[in-house]
Amino acid sequence: MIIIGAKGHAKEVFDVLTIDAPDSFYFFDNVSADLEDSLFSYPILKTTEQARSQLKKNPDFILGLGNPFSRNKVYNLFLEYNGNPVSAIAKNAVVSKSAVLGKGLNIMPFAFVSADTFIGNGVLINAYASIHHDCKIGEFAEISPGAKVLGNCEIGAFTTIGANATILPKLKVGKNVTIGAGAVITKDIEDNAVVIGVPGKIIKYNVPKI
Ligand SMILES: CC(C)(COP(=O)(O)OP(=O)(O)OC[C@H]1O[C@@H](n2cnc3c(N)ncnc32)[C@H](O)[C@@H]1OP(=O)(O)O)[C@@H](O)C(=O)NCCC(=O)NCCS
Repeated sequence: MIIIGAKGHAKEVFDVLTIDAPDSFYFFDNVSADLEDSLFSYPILKTTEQARSQLKKNPDFILGLGNPFSRNKVYNLFLEYNGNPVSAIAKNAVVSKSAVLGKGLNIMPFAFVSADTFIGNGVLINAYASIHHDCKIGEFAEISPGAKVLGNCEIGAFTTIGANATILPKLKVGKNVTIGAGAVITKDIEDNAVVIGVPGKIIKYNVPKI
């Protein structure tokens, strides 16, 4: 089993895992220059060759990065290496039986995923965030700690909802959007927008990447 990442979010993901065979456990980070050789006594793989060889022994991997585009990049790479994306779901998260869950999710402690929701592949729902009934969360979106997506909303792929932000019911937030921490979104938001404040206002646009 490999956790992708060896920094802050990877540490948090590590804590929500319950692994039966810790001897075969690794972190992977091929971009950071400032890493030790191990984290929590488990080796850090630093090259794609090492990761590829480990995936041949055990194809399971878990995302441990926060940024949607970084998550997607390594997810796709590991799929090419015949890896198998596994979800990390905290024991104390509440996930409805009627939620449709994609692959490779991070659902962190105290998160709430309500009824008839659809959660795309690679989504991160961070600690204390809540996704209410009938919401659809696009692939690799990042729902930050304490954010609330109220009922019947649609959040686009690769969008980040900042910590403690609130998306009011029945709204559509586009792709590659950044919602600032603490914002309250009261209207639909177009693709690539960066939004802050209460009520949320667009201050600029992200470079379109998808
Ligand atoms: C919205 C955000 C993306 C803007 O980041 P940025 O592009 O680097 O913008 P800056 O920090 O240069 O701020 C631009 C202006 O917006 C203000 N601002 C930034 N974030 C704000 C926020 N969340 N709410 C209100 N105002 C905010 C700044 O004070 C600054 O104002 P000024 O021009 O009057 O000085 C960022 O501040 C943010 O809120 N990110 C979410 C972080 C988060 O929740 N992370 C979770 C990790 S688990």
